[in-house]
Amino acid sequence: MKSHGATRTFGLLTSGGDCPGLDTLIRGVADAATSRYNMNIIGFAGGYRGLIEGDAHTLKSESFSGMLIPGGSRRHSNVSRAAEPRSAASHDAAVGAAETQAAIDSYRRFQLDCIVVIGGYDALKTAYHLSRHGVNVIAVPKTINNNIWCTDISYGFHSAVEIACEAIARLHSTARSHNRIMVTEVMGHTTGWLALYAGLAADADVILMPETPYRIEHIHEHLKRRAERGKFHSIMVIAEGALSEEQSRARYSPGRSKHHESNVGYHIAEQLESETGIEARVTVLGHQQRGGAPSAYDRILATRLGAGVADMLHEGAFGRMAALKGNDTARCRLAEVAGMLRKVPPQHDLLTAAHAVGTCFGTPPA
Ligand code: F6P
Repeated sequence: MKSHGATRTFGLLTSGGDCPGLDTLIRGVADAATSRYNMNIIGFAGGYRGLIEGDAHTLKSESFSGMLIPGGSRRHSNVSRAAEPRSAASHDAAVGAAETQAAIDSYRRFQLDCIVVIGGYDALKTAYHLSRHGVNVIAVPKTINNNIWCTDISYGFHSAVEIACEAIARLHSTARSHNRIMVTEVMGHTTGWLALYAGLAADADVILMPETPYRIEHIHEHLKRRAERGKFHSIMVIAEGALSEEQSRARYSPGRSKHHESNVGYHIAEQLESETGIEARVTVLGHQQRGGAPSAYDRILATRLGAGVADMLHEGAFGRMAALKGNDTARCRLAEVAGMLRKVPPQHDLLTAAHAVGTCFGTPPA
């Protein structure tokens, strides 16, 4: 009989935007906790809403076996943004007193020793909020934006990079055939990680990110230099949160249609055509970046993070998030992570490498 550490039964919920292979990460946590420590698992449907309303389901090992491969998410893990603050500015969770108490009541009613929260930037704020109200919480970083403090890579990011890279790389031939600027808008919310990684991997000529506000003149100069070398086509990747220098100074936030498209891709294409006279065409990848099966890297990450969470549950390492630092798994205090947005730092080595190969960021050449 496996020794019972600090956790016999824990709750499990996913919150926020989904990602490729979300079930794979659930399987990673659940498989390690049951096979290694024989723990019991209560899944809550619909993110924090399920916990608040007590919409609970016992997870048996057969309910997550074979989930390492397929993509998507199933009923007990379907996600929602319930009880998540929608504004990056708010450092407090969006859980009111009544909802907080309802969550604590569920925690006690199901006799949980801990709640494992799989989520992104906003979900972690609520996780920290609950931990400050006496709920044992362990978080797992999951977001295609990769904007979570204290972990180098979040689950789902690598798969989204693969999807975006494959789509962008396919545009080189048509750009060349028609001497066009092919603009691809990628997700990332208010950070440029997805644009930077996918753009570099797909050999983009121009990468625009929120962290490096652009001037159209610098892009035009770059395209002119390409034309002088006989390159009359270009590939541009723009993050949905990218800003011009002027917008950045005005603290502009791209408006969102109800379909969440910030339209930055269409705006930059119009600007480029009028500024350069070169035809431009736009692809908005949108939720393609969030679907399908996970990459091999993410499948391995799911198993590594899952095993780490199982050990944290057993040891009682609550109030923490499982993380990846370099090539090693790590643990970070939720107090350090919640409300801290991880943006691409100006000295990041991928930026240095991109400048070295002549990538334009809409700023003066490095
Ligand atoms: O947070 C992940 C994310 O995919 C962002 O990159 C994107 O802006 C947002 O979610 C879209 O939200 P929704 O799925 O609610 O339309």
